[in-house]
Amino acid sequence: MQDVRQCSLNLNYWWTVAHLKNFSRSGIKAAKVGTIELVVVKANSSYSVFEDACPHKRVRLSKFGRRVGNKLVCSYHGWKFAPSGQCTDIPGMDMQKQFCLKSYPVKEYGGWLWVFLGDEKLVDSVPLPKIPPVHSQHYHPIPMQGEVGCHFSYITENATDLFHADLHQSAQPWANPKLLSLKSNLRTVNAIYEVDTPRLLAALISHPGKNRVHVMYEYPYFHLWSEDGAFYLFVVYVPTEPQRTWVYSTFYFRHVWGMPWILKLLHPILDKGTFRQVFAEDIRAVQEEQRAYNLHSQDLSRETNPVSYAVRKVILNQTDGQQPLTLEPFVYEGKPV
Ligand code: FES
Ligand SMILES: [Fe+2]
Repeated sequence: MQDVRQCSLNLNYWWTVAHLKNFSRSGIKAAKVGTIELVVVKANSSYSVFEDACPHKRVRLSKFGRRVGNKLVCSYHGWKFAPSGQCTDIPGMDMQKQFCLKSYPVKEYGGWLWVFLGDEKLVDSVPLPKIPPVHSQHYHPIPMQGEVGCHFSYITENATDLFHADLHQSAQPWANPKLLSLKSNLRTVNAIYEVDTPRLLAALISHPGKNRVHVMYEYPYFHLWSEDGAFYLFVVYVPTEPQRTWVYSTFYFRHVWGMPWILKLLHPILDKGTFRQVFAEDIRAVQEEQRAYNLHSQDLSRETNPVSYAVRKVILNQTDGQQPLTLEPFVYEGKPV
C-alpha cells in the first residue's frame, strides 16, 4: 500500500492561495499549490492568478514582475501582460500576440482567494467549500496562515485528533476529550468529540462544562465547530513540498453577548497571543513527527485514534495516482565581488 506520508495532492478542487487583505502595495504575491508555482496579482480590487514563469525566459514574475496599471510587467526584458495573461507588448518587436501567460480561474470567498488548477472541464462543476459563518452576521473572523515543515497528512491528523489536549496546557482550548462518533467515506471524515471547555474560553464564548465538538475533514478542507455554535474553525492545508505545508485558516467566534465590539477589542490578543501560541505548539509537535519519520524513513508511530486512520484513508484515496510533490529547486545567490 502507498505510504500516506508520501502522498501528493488532488488539483481537482478549489485551493486557497492568498488572503484578500494580505497584499503589499506592489499587488504581487507568490503562492504555491503542490508543484505549481503561482503569481497572484491584485489590480483595482480584482485578482488574477498566473503560472509564476515569464513565457520568455521562465523567470518568476513573483520575483521579477511589477504592476503598471492593470498590467503585469516582467522587469527583465519588459514584456507586458494583460489581466487575461495575453502578452500586449514586447519592447522592440511586434511578436506579442504569440505569447500568453498561463492564467487560472479564481474566486473570492470567506476573505480568501481561491484558484482551480485541475482539469478545466471540471471547473464549473466543482463547488467551493461551504463555510457557514461566512453567511452569518453573528461571527467575528480571525484569519491566520503560516508554513509548517511537515507532510500535510501530519498536520491534518493533528487537527482531527482532539486527544492532543495535553499539548496546549497553557491556553487550554479544550480538555478531557472523548470520541462519541465517527463516520467516513472516500472523501469525508465526520467525528464528534465531547470535551470540557475550560477557563477563559468558556467564560468568553461558550458555556462551561461539557461541549460537543464536530470535526469534519472533507478533502482538502478541515472544519471544526462547537455544537452550541460558539465557534467555527476552517482550514485548508496546502502541500507545497514533500515535507512542507502552507496552512490557511479562519477562526470564527460568535459575538460575545451579541456585541461585536467585544471581539473587535479582543482581536489582537486572540490573534497575536492565544491562536499563534496554539498554532506554534501544533507546529512543534507535527514537525517532530516528521523528524521521526525521516530518522527511520518510515512511519513507526502507533496510532490509537480511529479518526486518524479514517483521515489517512481519505488522503490515500483522494491523491491516488497524482503527480508526486517535489523539492523547491536550489537557486544560487551569486553577486559581484
Ligand atoms: S524573461 Fe520576462 S521579459 Fe524576458
Ligand atoms: Fe492542536
